[in-house]
Amino acid sequence: MWTVCLCIAALVALSFVHWIHRWSNPRCNGNLPPGSMGLPLLGESLEFFASNSSSDIPPFVKERMKRYGPVFRTSLVGRPVIVSTNSDLNYYIFQQEGRLFQSWYPDTFTEIFGKQNVGSLHGFIYKYLKGMVLNLFGPESLRKMLTEVEQAANKSLDMWSRQETVELKDASAAMIFDLTAKKLISHDPEKSSENLRENFVAFIKGLISFPLNIPGTAYHKCLQGRKKAMTMLENMLEERRRRPNKVQRDFYDYVLEELQRKDTVLTEAVALDLMFVLLFASFETTSLAITFAIKMLAENPHVLKELTEEHDAILRKREDSELGLTWKEYKSMKFTFQVINETARLGNIVPGIFRKALKDIKYKEHTIPAGWAVMVCPPAVHLNPSTYKDPLQFNPWRWEESELKGASKNFMAFGGGMRFCVGTDFTKVQMAVFLHCLVTKYRWVLMKGGDIVRTPGLQFPNGLHIQISEKHKIRARGGRNHPSRQDDEEADHVYC
Ligand code: HEM
Repeated sequence: MWTVCLCIAALVALSFVHWIHRWSNPRCNGNLPPGSMGLPLLGESLEFFASNSSSDIPPFVKERMKRYGPVFRTSLVGRPVIVSTNSDLNYYIFQQEGRLFQSWYPDTFTEIFGKQNVGSLHGFIYKYLKGMVLNLFGPESLRKMLTEVEQAANKSLDMWSRQETVELKDASAAMIFDLTAKKLISHDPEKSSENLRENFVAFIKGLISFPLNIPGTAYHKCLQGRKKAMTMLENMLEERRRRPNKVQRDFYDYVLEELQRKDTVLTEAVALDLMFVLLFASFETTSLAITFAIKMLAENPHVLKELTEEHDAILRKREDSELGLTWKEYKSMKFTFQVINETARLGNIVPGIFRKALKDIKYKEHTIPAGWAVMVCPPAVHLNPSTYKDPLQFNPWRWEESELKGASKNFMAFGGGMRFCVGTDFTKVQMAVFLHCLVTKYRWVLMKGGDIVRTPGLQFPNGLHIQISEKHKIRARGGRNHPSRQDDEEADHVYC
């Protein structure tokens, strides 16, 4: 009896040791990149998600680059992952989309964004959806949207300037969300009894957090937020089905029309997941970029000066000062686009872009095994001192001679290749128009917050609180815009 028990115990122990050995030394038909798979099951997830307040390459990546070189292996949320900080390999990965690599995100992401979200779809349905999105946010639509974007920026800035202070991250998110929700689903927060944005806020809090789905965790709150937001979107679509518009006015009308066609590849689930992703992507990313840009402008007054000059010149050249921005004026904002690019480079809003290797891939002396995840790391490319001199400095002039349009080997803030961000131009319009309205009419003072935390996604844990004043009122009142502001005298010389 004892002998049998001992044999079983020995077998279990042996299997365990074998499993640990296999975990640390995964099979590969070639030479795996160096690295550590961390603890069994947990891998190196805790280190990856540990928060840091640096604007430099994430410590998790930087330490491993030093130890193992530019391409290394690890394990994150239960998956073996190859991390690439090498701009050539990153570029190659983007170019090989659908052939050697395929868009892939951890299961936790798919849970959050929906199993049928555009990032997880491939082939024909993906191309179809991309066409739909480009139709909504492509240059032709943006040109028509310009006035609306300007009106939304002016309205928000006017409202903020009447408040004691404004928390820019949330306030700009609200501004963009309301505009996008109006365009996509005709959602008017002032008329609706339901607060759609509130559910997205709960959702975002846990987005790039450790995926532990138990009550109280950020991840759990995130899933709850998604559930509520999806229910609202479903109800709104249902309502539209019952009461359709006579002419096609928004994205819901388009979806309902499409769903009635016999040969359509669109399903209601795909349309709703797309709606969710677009609403999320449009306001969360751009509001982070706007907040980061304002922080950088406040810390770099010489940049703000040149930016203001560019926009004042646009107003001076305008024949009728009552008219709003034109597309031609928008296109002429050269320095503004340099500021936006520099914000995207240094802000590194997207810390990692994921793919899956479809077959064994040999790259130089290493092999990326089929089925493994690959994480392209844009911050490592954007903060490489051999490409960008003084990479931690906010220096929009570094883009003076560059082509600012798309992705390149050394700039991948919006991804690259076939999956290049479809919202890039929309973000640029939002940011440029907002900056135009801000610097031509207003000045602002940083009141509190502005600290950065990366988990590894960019966050402003205390927000960025600013006080905004109209320029002409500051001049007219010798620095007093807001009657209740006691500290104006003192604040005058710190206005940005
Ligand atoms: C600062 C703003 C933004 C940043 C930094 C950003 C970044 C990115 C990146 C890096 C990707 C590539 C993901 C991949 O290759 O797997 C991407 C894709 C995408 N982005 Fe953006 N984005 C921004 C704004 C927006 C906006 C405003 C929208 C919506 C209107 C949007 C919608 C999308 C969609 C739908 C995809 C998936 C494209 C595909 O799979 O082909 N993004 N974005």
